[in-house]
Amino acid sequence: MLTIENILLDYAQSLQGTEQFPLVGWQIHSDKKNVIQQSWQLQIGEDSAFTQILHDTGRMESVQSQNIQLTGIELVYSRRYFVRVKISDNYGEESSWSQPAEFITGLPAEKWQGAFISAEQPEDNATSKGSLLRKAFYLDRVDDISSVVVHASALGIYQFYCNGQRVGNDELTPGWTSYHHHLLYQTYDLTPLLQEGKNAVAASLGAGWYKGDMSFNRYRNYYGDRTAFICQVVIHYKDGRQQTLVTDELWRASDSPVLFSEIYDGETYDARLEQAGWNDADFDDSQWRSVSLIDADKAVLRPQGTATVQQIETIDPVAVLITPQGDTVVDFGQNLTGWVSFTVKGNVGDKVVLRHFEVLDADGNVYLANLRTAKQRIEYTLKGGEEEHYHPHFTFQGFRYVKIESWPGTFDIHQVKAVVVHSQMQQAGDFSCSNPHLNQLHHNILWGLKGNFVDVPTDCPQRDERLGWTGDAQIFCRTASYLMQTRNFFAKWLTDLRHDQTAEGGVPHVIPDILTDRCDEDRFLAQGNTHSAAAWADAAVIAPWTIYLMYGDTTTLRNQYASMKGWIDFMRAHAVDNHWRYKLQFGDWVALDAKEGSYFGATPNELTCMAYYAWSTLLFAKAAKVLGHEADYQEYVALYQRIVHSFQQAFFTPTGRLAVRTQTAHILALHFNLVPDAFRERTINTLLELLAEHDGHLVTGFVGTPYFCHALSQNGHAKEAWDLLLKDDFPSWLYQVKAGATTIWEHWDGIKPDGSMWSPDMNSFNHYAYGAIGEWIYRAAAGIDTDESGPGFKQIRLKPLIGGGLEWLNARYHSLYGDINVGWKVVPAGEGVSRVTMEVDIPPNTQATITLVDAEEIIADDGLTFSAEGGDYQAVTGSGYYQLEYRCSMPQ
Ligand code: BGC
Repeated sequence: MLTIENILLDYAQSLQGTEQFPLVGWQIHSDKKNVIQQSWQLQIGEDSAFTQILHDTGRMESVQSQNIQLTGIELVYSRRYFVRVKISDNYGEESSWSQPAEFITGLPAEKWQGAFISAEQPEDNATSKGSLLRKAFYLDRVDDISSVVVHASALGIYQFYCNGQRVGNDELTPGWTSYHHHLLYQTYDLTPLLQEGKNAVAASLGAGWYKGDMSFNRYRNYYGDRTAFICQVVIHYKDGRQQTLVTDELWRASDSPVLFSEIYDGETYDARLEQAGWNDADFDDSQWRSVSLIDADKAVLRPQGTATVQQIETIDPVAVLITPQGDTVVDFGQNLTGWVSFTVKGNVGDKVVLRHFEVLDADGNVYLANLRTAKQRIEYTLKGGEEEHYHPHFTFQGFRYVKIESWPGTFDIHQVKAVVVHSQMQQAGDFSCSNPHLNQLHHNILWGLKGNFVDVPTDCPQRDERLGWTGDAQIFCRTASYLMQTRNFFAKWLTDLRHDQTAEGGVPHVIPDILTDRCDEDRFLAQGNTHSAAAWADAAVIAPWTIYLMYGDTTTLRNQYASMKGWIDFMRAHAVDNHWRYKLQFGDWVALDAKEGSYFGATPNELTCMAYYAWSTLLFAKAAKVLGHEADYQEYVALYQRIVHSFQQAFFTPTGRLAVRTQTAHILALHFNLVPDAFRERTINTLLELLAEHDGHLVTGFVGTPYFCHALSQNGHAKEAWDLLLKDDFPSWLYQVKAGATTIWEHWDGIKPDGSMWSPDMNSFNHYAYGAIGEWIYRAAAGIDTDESGPGFKQIRLKPLIGGGLEWLNARYHSLYGDINVGWKVVPAGEGVSRVTMEVDIPPNTQATITLVDAEEIIADDGLTFSAEGGDYQAVTGSGYYQLEYRCSMPQ
């Protein structure tokens, strides 16, 4: 049977707020193999029963089932719409109509009627306290209302209420963007919440990224000095009338029980100041004060329809410890990002005080030093009497442990739980194998993502940083996209990247950029720049290209095209003979071949800059080709070739020696294809020597590490790649795992073998950067990749690399087309030979090339036709589940 499941609108299962008719895609299910869609038909309705069909595309003969852009469809703003699809396939089978998918349209910038309103005065600029806003209104009748939608946003962070109820599941909205250019609003359906007679809408506000004390420089008010709220409630009546309620000078304002709340430092909350029913219709707000109107640009408001931050899961503590110093510490068993939610009973004025932190020191005591100035402290004052429940509102913490500094009565483990908070995304990857340490590494990489995808891709979630460091995001982007469906998350962040780019095309080190003009740290001031470092700024090109590869998404590529070009042109403008240099570079950041105590690895910036210049220029040229910018394509391919030529002139001796003798230099040259063919073997051999010099260990930093295993396996050294991945003594990925890590560390030597730690100045235990090895695990070891000719896994490449001494491996990647599964088992079958059984699943409407590496004989082909191809066996197939068996030379 042919069915359609999982209609995605703008890549989301639920889209609340969109400017235009969303991109549509769907998954096809069938009991047949080799299914290809022949046609589709889409209808747009006003209700889920489709009694009123607003648009019908008719039957479209097309194989396309993703990234479908319908044009010319007029939508009314602030309205719900329903979409359904049916298809036919190459067997002549027709599906029935899909379940409807639903979306709500946003509010165009020019339709915002309300004002930004604030409960604060200019003299509140130095405080980070919360405030409350509310407005009561009457509705004569509700039975003639067809739907009610609210659009809301804030300067700061807001929580929205209607008739006493919290609206939506979102946290920390409107998130963090380049607010002056790009301020997101959220959209919610209020229809079921309104009542006949008196109603109330209300908001609770906090300082957040907008006004709070941010960055390691601790500057406050980067974007503004007063929090403010804006909303527009749009009521649609059945007879077509429309009524709106907006934020204006008639709203009422009050202080809130939140006495202090900031991203790094935590929250101070006094429950004695709670005003019962403050957000209810009947509440008497006559004692509240008037609001002030804030002059802020409404033209920058854009809908955030999906990928908002939410409470994703909860974790119970695993133990309560008393440290040698006598502190009571709760251990959640997992380093995570979010907050503690607790239940407490006590007397009025009693206090709960919690400090959040990541690791215990070598003696088993509380270790706060690596948080630097971030307090990560929660103080809650009880109102007394009944049980009280609390979790913070406008902050988040990075922690595994919580020190109980104050608790009324005896603390009980059941009174607390950790709430994991991050941007909502669908999990895309699953991995397990016969090596438990590798499984834990995968777990740690995933938790690195969860901990650092809190609205922007951050370096770390705990210390006074939590910034959208471009380099970290660049190297982790592909891995992240194997683990989660990241398209909307990155599309949002890239929007801010392009807004924050310098006029010349330079790319700030952090996005949103809060370092420029507000940075007094020596390392930046001495060099005079807060933008445009190789491998960091290249996020401008590599991230949109990755999103294109993973999702076939040309929309993001198109939106970012000028930004991508801007970055390449920046490098070109600062290049002499294709060597570009610009002020402060981070190089192979935190590599182990750095001088003692330094963060800068041994690979010279000249090489890193040029290697990335070549790589980004190539990717940009490819993007130009995809988007049909032929002249740009020609121009930038030619530029790319000149850069490669200059690189080879500069760094290879006439006899083929790469003049920079570091692992990272060799990895970049190999992986970015900068090695003349004649010198490839020598280059790979030198890389192997450089590995051997460290007894098979890496000494690479942010730049070299992500590609190390690729550079080996792509050049005939899969065994060495596996060995490197599975090394488990210092320094290595599994060294951390064996040391008990539950996320990825910033430094290979975060905790050294002797138990001492890297300097607290810069020692995060939740830094996803080195988790970039996840890409190799999915793309090379499990062998699930997309072909560039059919991006978004329309054309799949399955080429598992059996090895690592594993007995079995199972991996799933949930592509837009459906699940791609690869599973293999290997058993020794005598003299240097293994017998492999392999199962693969290929989703409908895609095609896959399956390569069986080093296969010598196919025992079971499940109807596929394999042919020998360069020492391997290869077959091309359509969708379906296949069980294969073959003999191959024994993987080591
Ligand atoms: C961050 C890094 C970042 C680096 C660049 C650090 O403070 O945590 O991950 O990329 O600075 O200098």
